[in-house]
Amino acid sequence: MELKKLKGFRDLLPDETPLWQYMEAKARRVLEAFGYREVRLPLLEDTALFRRSIGEATDIVEKEMYTFVDTGGNSVTLRPEGTASAVRAYLENGFARSAPKARWYYLGPMFRRERPQKGRLRQFHQIGVECFGWAEAEADAEVLTLLWDLFAAFGLSDRLRLEINTLGCSADRAAYVQTLRAHLQGLRSDLCPDCQRRIDTNPLRVLDCKKERCRQLTSDAPRITEAVCPKCSEHFARVREILDGVGLAYRVNPRMVRGLDYYNRTTFELLAEGLGAQNAVAAGGRYDGLAEALGGPPVPALGFALGMERLGLLLDPEAAPAPVPTAYWVTRGPEAAARALALRRELAARGMGSAMDLAARSFKAQMRAADRSGARFALILAEDEMASGTVTVKDLSTGNQETVAVGELISYLMGRIATPS
Ligand code: HAM
Repeated sequence: MELKKLKGFRDLLPDETPLWQYMEAKARRVLEAFGYREVRLPLLEDTALFRRSIGEATDIVEKEMYTFVDTGGNSVTLRPEGTASAVRAYLENGFARSAPKARWYYLGPMFRRERPQKGRLRQFHQIGVECFGWAEAEADAEVLTLLWDLFAAFGLSDRLRLEINTLGCSADRAAYVQTLRAHLQGLRSDLCPDCQRRIDTNPLRVLDCKKERCRQLTSDAPRITEAVCPKCSEHFARVREILDGVGLAYRVNPRMVRGLDYYNRTTFELLAEGLGAQNAVAAGGRYDGLAEALGGPPVPALGFALGMERLGLLLDPEAAPAPVPTAYWVTRGPEAAARALALRRELAARGMGSAMDLAARSFKAQMRAADRSGARFALILAEDEMASGTVTVKDLSTGNQETVAVGELISYLMGRIATPS
């Protein structure tokens, strides 16, 4: 076949979707229990939204966005993340005035033109939360405990490590960037070409370089945790105090800088064993200045997003088995097939799944398929049943058969599935 999907894009086939539905359903349950409500936001936005929020000198904006000019001449971009759109929607729909405190969640695809590898795709999926309206450390603690409990609900606590950091306020950050830049100038010629460029464009990113040599050279670079103002320092101390109080384990990583520019104060990453290089399964932080940067009033806020592909890699696919129909129709002759079709609709209307082969295959082939399907019952409609207005119900786990009048079939099956075989 000539037409193939794009590199870094995936088909999620029917054998994989049960795991995805399981992830979504469990996440919804946990998030809604914490009072988060779902928002569904556009996949395509004005390019300026992402440039202004994520930052011009970030990898995402510099080289990873799917940006194009539409037929109306507007520059539009497939969303590379959800926070910018969430803040845009919050402001545009008047939440800053009408309901400034809001807890939102979203799930869906994001697009970044990165180099594909295990756990890294160009279309990937996130489950994200955004908590608007609280500047208090209690909000940071809520979001962090929620993140932890979400992964605990998937049985993954043992395989995860939470790292946190503070970036201080924008003044702290600006001052730190100057200090760091001055320090890095002295190392310039020994750093990799990317880092040499970052000294001028975004020195914080140098701390995040994966190259061993750059890491060693910068090991004694000034630390941001020591450069934040007393208020931000106090905020961070309070966040840690609450986390300590509830027994949530974390490590402070002063080198952790995030790949998006909107963060201030608390930032964090959840790292997982067994994911290789792409080991951040979730990440987030505070972004108190973002609403203002997008033209709104100041709105303190924070959130996180987890990568569903990465979460999926950590889960046992057996956790979400494929759906199995309750019954499988075995019919002989066109009239029987037509009756089965009608009864199937009645069963479906009551939420009972029944499977059926639409080709006129032999009785034996249909019985074999019924056995293989995993269905509990075979529903047999042959000449005798058609003549007497009945269905033979065979329990495939025991082999027992019973004859049931067509009109009684639904209540009979309801009664049987209420009791284990
Ligand atoms: P992020 O760190 O860019 O943050 O992405 C969050 C998570 O999405 C990552 O930890 C990872 O699990 C997943 N992810 C990112 N890129 C890819 C990719 N190419 N392939 C597969 N998974 C990926 C954000 O997006 C922020 N909006 C999070 C946030 C919400 N901050 C505040 N609120």
